[in-house]
This record gives sequence, structure tokens and C-alpha cells, in this order.
Amino acid sequence: MRRPFVAGNWKMNTTAASGCELARAIAEAVPTSRDEVDVLVAPPLPYLDCVDDELAKSAVMLGAQNCYHEKEGAFTGEVSPQMLADLDVDYVILGHSERRHILGETDEDINKKVAAALEAGLGVILCVGETLEDREAGKTNDVLAQQLSGGLKGLTAEQLAGGTGGNDDLVLAYEPVWAIGTGKTATPEMAQEAHAFLRSKLAEGWGDDLAAATRIQYGGSVKPANAADLLAQPDIDGALVGGASLSAENFLPIVEAAFAQV
Ligand code: PGA
Repeated sequence: MRRPFVAGNWKMNTTAASGCELARAIAEAVPTSRDEVDVLVAPPLPYLDCVDDELAKSAVMLGAQNCYHEKEGAFTGEVSPQMLADLDVDYVILGHSERRHILGETDEDINKKVAAALEAGLGVILCVGETLEDREAGKTNDVLAQQLSGGLKGLTAEQLAGGTGGNDDLVLAYEPVWAIGTGKTATPEMAQEAHAFLRSKLAEGWGDDLAAATRIQYGGSVKPANAADLLAQPDIDGALVGGASLSAENFLPIVEAAFAQV
């Protein structure tokens, strides 16, 4: 049984004050006694520390939205996985489509970051997803297979599985680019098909055990109204939520939809 995992990606939004207020409201709804679902918020980097303070007495985990692949050195403006771990970050989101398409990250860049983050003891949420053009050209599976094998190149099933039940495993997020921030959601059936395909590729490359244990989140215009139907699909193990994670009013019903699955 895979533990459902709902993550909020705040992207480049909130202020220190509004981010802390949001974290506080989420933390109150998910106290330490409610740990059947993994819940995470990923604020902008400058707010990690103050958001972490708000989450202290809750089961909500802390996420980061990016990192660099080196430990330290002359890399102005970059942040290492070790620095994130130092700030109590549990998972780092890597390969998000905005980083691929706006910031120009390649599968090779992402692969180095995934390896470095796992090495530093962080969990990784690796995002993959096709553009509308890819989908219309019938290339969805090719793109997903390429992003998966490119992002995870050279990594073993042991590295991807993480350690002793800590938050240091690999999680995938299927995020069709055409559904991100557009209000268009993949139908539960479309998403299920892509998730099952990704799981089959994990099995092919890293074995059945890893494929069966790996959580695959769906992301792309998840909201309270569509969360339950998406989460009910057998291969959808959670959600990576952008816009709707920016208010407790929208994010908490999605979290509750995941609790309803267990
Ligand atoms: P969205 O973003 O929920 O606003 O579509 C999802 C994401 O980019 O992770």
C-alpha cells in the first residue's frame, strides 16, 4: 500500500508573512497525530526557515522547489542539497516543467540534481510531463520514457527507494504541461494511463519492487472539485498542487480527499 502524498508547490508566490500564515493554517489541520497521508508544502527558498517553524508541531513536511547539484563552491546564487537538508527540508521538487521550459533545464541537468539530492539524504519529487504538441503528435509515452530514463540515469533501485522509511525516496509527479496553471485537467482516465505507463517503465528499469513502492503524484490544475476522482485511480498516489495550494481553503479539501483514500 503506497502512502498518499499531497504536496503544495507555492512557486514564486507569497510573502514571508502570508507564507507563514498559510503554513500555520495547514499545520493546524494536519497535526502529528494525522500521519496516514504525507503532506508537504514547498515555499520559496527565502521562506523555508520561517515556514519550518510553523510546521514544527505538525505532520506537514517541508519541500524546496529546486537545488543545484554541487555541495558548495563558487556557484553564485545557487543552493546545494546539503543546505536544504540543513534547513530541515524533506523533499526537493526537481525537473518541474517551468524549470525545463522557462529556465532551460535539460534531462542531464536534472539527473545531476536528482543524484546529488538523494546523496544528501533528501527525498526527490521528479516531475515529468508532455506538452500539448507532444500529446497531439502521439509522443506522450516517448517523452515520459525519455524524461524518466534521462532523469534517473545511473541511479540504482536502492538509491531510489531511500533508506529506512525516512523521507529520502524518489517520488514521481506526472504533470502534463498543458494542464499546469491552465484550468485544464487531464481526465482521471488519461492521468491513470500515463501513471500506469510510468510505473511499467520503472519496473522495466529498476524492478517490480521499486515500481510497486514508488508514489506517483498527479499535477496540473488539481482542485477540490477534481481531487477525489483523480486520487481514486489505482496508480495515482497523490497530487502536486500549484495554484490551489496557495490558500488553505483550497488546499485542505485536497488533503482531506487523500485522507479519505486510506
Ligand atoms: P497548477 O500547478 O496546480 O497551478 O496547475 C501544478 C504544478 O505546476 O505543480
